Amino acid sequence: MPRPQSRFVCGQCAHVSPRWLGRCPECGEWNTLAEEAVSRAPARLATAPVYSTNAPAPVSALPAHAGRRTMTGIGEMDRVIGGGLVDGSVTLIGGDPGIGKSTLLAQVAHSLLASTPDTGPPALYVTGEESPRQIRLRCERLGALSERLLVLGETDIGAVIHHIHATAPALVILDSIQTAYDPSIESAPGTVSQVRNVGAALVQVAKNGGPPVFLIGHVTKEGTLAGPRVLEHMVDTVLYFEGDRHHAYRVLRAVKSRFGPTDEIGLFEMREDGLHEVTNPSAAFLAERLTGASGSAVAATMEGARPMLVEVQRLVTRSYLSSPRRVVNGLDSGRAGMVLAVLEKRIGLRLGEHDVFLNVAGGVRIIEPASDLAVAMAVVSSYRDVPLRADTVWVGEIGLGGEVRSVGHLDRRTREARRMEYGRAVVPRRNTKAPAGESGDGIEVAQVRTVLDAVNASLQAQKGPRETDD
Ligand code: TYD
Ligand code: MG
Repeated sequence: MPRPQSRFVCGQCAHVSPRWLGRCPECGEWNTLAEEAVSRAPARLATAPVYSTNAPAPVSALPAHAGRRTMTGIGEMDRVIGGGLVDGSVTLIGGDPGIGKSTLLAQVAHSLLASTPDTGPPALYVTGEESPRQIRLRCERLGALSERLLVLGETDIGAVIHHIHATAPALVILDSIQTAYDPSIESAPGTVSQVRNVGAALVQVAKNGGPPVFLIGHVTKEGTLAGPRVLEHMVDTVLYFEGDRHHAYRVLRAVKSRFGPTDEIGLFEMREDGLHEVTNPSAAFLAERLTGASGSAVAATMEGARPMLVEVQRLVTRSYLSSPRRVVNGLDSGRAGMVLAVLEKRIGLRLGEHDVFLNVAGGVRIIEPASDLAVAMAVVSSYRDVPLRADTVWVGEIGLGGEVRSVGHLDRRTREARRMEYGRAVVPRRNTKAPAGESGDGIEVAQVRTVLDAVNASLQAQKGPRETDD
């Protein structure tokens, strides 16, 4: 009897190996190879792809626009996807379990239906993760019990596609891609080949005049989407829904987008009755700020085209451990470590003997280097136990030499600071356009060349910082 054949497929890059390996030779990830059965029949979709009869056409004769766009009516979502849902587009939305993906998409479906006439097409919510009853309970809580929100408890992708054709919905949600499967493939749901085939089948449907499709995907501990990267390549848009489960704020971030910008984010707050849009992020993130405390500095960061003020908090305390603790929340820890090293070398802070706790208030994550200066100032303030001026925002990227480097969109940042009634902005001198002193925006602008300048200008009342050797 022939041995049943199997192969091993990497969950990250879909590399195929005839035997198990601890580390994928293709992408270098550890422990990502999983066994899959090889079916005897050549792999074919149960949902036989309909090859379209498209003929080549002159490029100039093709329609110029991406396709019809439908506003979901949830502004933060519409902005992130580039101004509404494009017909036939496939969007993958990833995030930790419990972060609110199902909630967000139930609200999107409801909002979309509410903006179309009662006789309009329905939305189809396919659930393999929870029972249809659980979806009902959630929708009740959200006030989203729309007659036209059709819920289908199904995991067989062939059946799902049948129902898409039968109901001709305006929107399809698959919750989740990891629970759906194609019965013609002998591997378990969630494996690389299943995820890839299910994804490909839905992309086919969407591209052949189908509705926009949302795929929900889980994220692994390492923060990447479970399942192969190939799925990210197949879809038009990849969104991540992130946030700290213990905080109410959630960020919707576009990491790939064929129809819009990729650096745009949407902000939501999770409440008892679902997700609410946060239209004034600066006010939300600064609401609980304690003025007059040391170790707090306000950064003006840009998220997409939108400026946002956030509070960076630091606690620097004497360490009793042989290797002092570095706890970083909401910032890139490598970047934060670099800022600490620069402070140690250029300003002479003896951080090696201190535990450092760093946090961005509200549970948001800031990835922009322009917040370096705020991080540095929060550390210095906590280290010396001297509060910074409460009316100041800090803008600047820090280089390894301790120089404060120029940043983009400085005027938008200072305007936001002004709007939030901050009186003073400390900015890089290299941003030549920014005038020193009182700017046209009615905010005092102080230009600094180095971190040392910034410290000197801000903590003058205290014992001056140690001069460095450069
Ligand atoms: P859910 O959408 O189920 O997350 P996911 O699909 O990403 O796994 O949301 C889960 C959490 O959100 C759950 O812990 C409860 C909370 N929640 C609220 O706080 N308010 C609400 O109105 C809803 C529906 C959920
Ligand atoms: Mg869910």
